[in-house]
Amino acid sequence: MASSVSCVHSIPLPDGAEPAVFAAVRQDSYRVHVTASEPDAVARLVEEIDGRRVALVTDDVVAGLHGDRLVGRLRGAGLRVDTTTFPAGEGSKNLDTAWSLLDWLAASSIQRRDVVVALGGGVVIDTVGWVASAYMRGVPYINVPTTLLGAVDAALGGKVAVDHWCAKNLIGAFYQPKAVVSHVGFLGTLDRRQLAAGLAEVIKKGVIGSPGLFELIERSVDDVLAGDAVALERVVAAASVVKCALIAADPYEEDLRRPLNLGHTVGHAVETVTGYGPVLHGEAVAYGMAVACEISSRRGLLDDGVRDRLLTLLRRAGLPTRLHDLRQPPKPADVVEALDCIRRIRDGCLRFVLPVELGHTVIADDVCDDDVLEAIVATAGTDDA
Ligand SMILES: NC(=O)c1ccc[n+]([C@@H]2O[C@H](COP(=O)([O-])OP(=O)(O)OC[C@H]3O[C@@H](n4cnc5c(N)ncnc54)[C@H](O)[C@@H]3O)[C@@H](O)[C@H]2O)c1
Ligand SMILES: [Zn+2]
Repeated sequence: MASSVSCVHSIPLPDGAEPAVFAAVRQDSYRVHVTASEPDAVARLVEEIDGRRVALVTDDVVAGLHGDRLVGRLRGAGLRVDTTTFPAGEGSKNLDTAWSLLDWLAASSIQRRDVVVALGGGVVIDTVGWVASAYMRGVPYINVPTTLLGAVDAALGGKVAVDHWCAKNLIGAFYQPKAVVSHVGFLGTLDRRQLAAGLAEVIKKGVIGSPGLFELIERSVDDVLAGDAVALERVVAAASVVKCALIAADPYEEDLRRPLNLGHTVGHAVETVTGYGPVLHGEAVAYGMAVACEISSRRGLLDDGVRDRLLTLLRRAGLPTRLHDLRQPPKPADVVEALDCIRRIRDGCLRFVLPVELGHTVIADDVCDDDVLEAIVATAGTDDA
């Protein structure tokens, strides 16, 4: 049946020469489903897809492990699904991959109201999210994380990006997903090291914002590392709630003093010096938290009991708390030099998040290179710092 809508306007012209003002408000909200049941995960995903055509993107490792099966389930539910993959790993998180995904979308019949599904770890989620933000000025996308780091961190918050040769995550946007569906069954094929690296980001959230989450990890760290689905479901669900609450106050990161950066200042420097490979991001963050503890203790800010609990938990997870625990221990002076580059990128100011108590951090901008060097030397690994 034909339909028509009339549009009538009579916009008054201003008397003076005032500049035009434009204002737009956008409210994004989405559900984060966490489940240990495959039928439940598929049902939630189908519900979120809501009959649209699907462009599912994953990497070539996840495709074989979980992708083909999930695509079969979605097609079995009557959905039209196109799928493509790219090579696994951080080396693919770049404009070349994004460009080939844009070519693929342009050649497909995906329309602006269809949906892109990002199935994979943080690399797939970040890359596909950025492509979704750019294609047709933004198509809806759903994150289906398959790593613990992806589930508790990358999938939430809409920070999408690809790397540039001169800096990680340099080309990106804030573009929120339509939904997140975390099926912890996917995490069953991760090795212990990858699980521990994801756990580092959960422990960080506990320290920053939730003693309850911290205690939950203390109780369940062994089960999580053994891949126990019940423990994983509980931890992913709790960490998702805590992350959503922490980012809600400043979703577009206007304030540079962000507690979520705990462990990341030294962590990024370690990743830079070691060339983004031998040390996993979560491992670098764990070590960065240990250095932040040392700086905080030296300032008399951190309670000894809390410090012991945090270092003990990191060690129980098999995460590095001393420089020599890292797979490729850098020289302390090189880490401090790398901090200098980060300082230049960030307008000459480095902010250190220092733990005080569980749920209480202080963000200090007066931590100097000597403070960091002393803390790194003290946590080098020759004694039980
Ligand atoms: N956007 C954000 O807010 C945010 C937050 C944290 C990290 N990140 C980004 O996330 C990336 C790191 O994510 P990651 O650690 O998930 O790395 P990743 O995506 O590279 O995955 C690690 C490896 O595990 C494989 N893999 C994925 N799922 C698997 C499974 N279920 N079983 C077996 N193997 C599996 C992948 O193929 C890959 O080889 C970085 O690029 C980082 O910048 C983004
Ligand atoms: Zn991180």
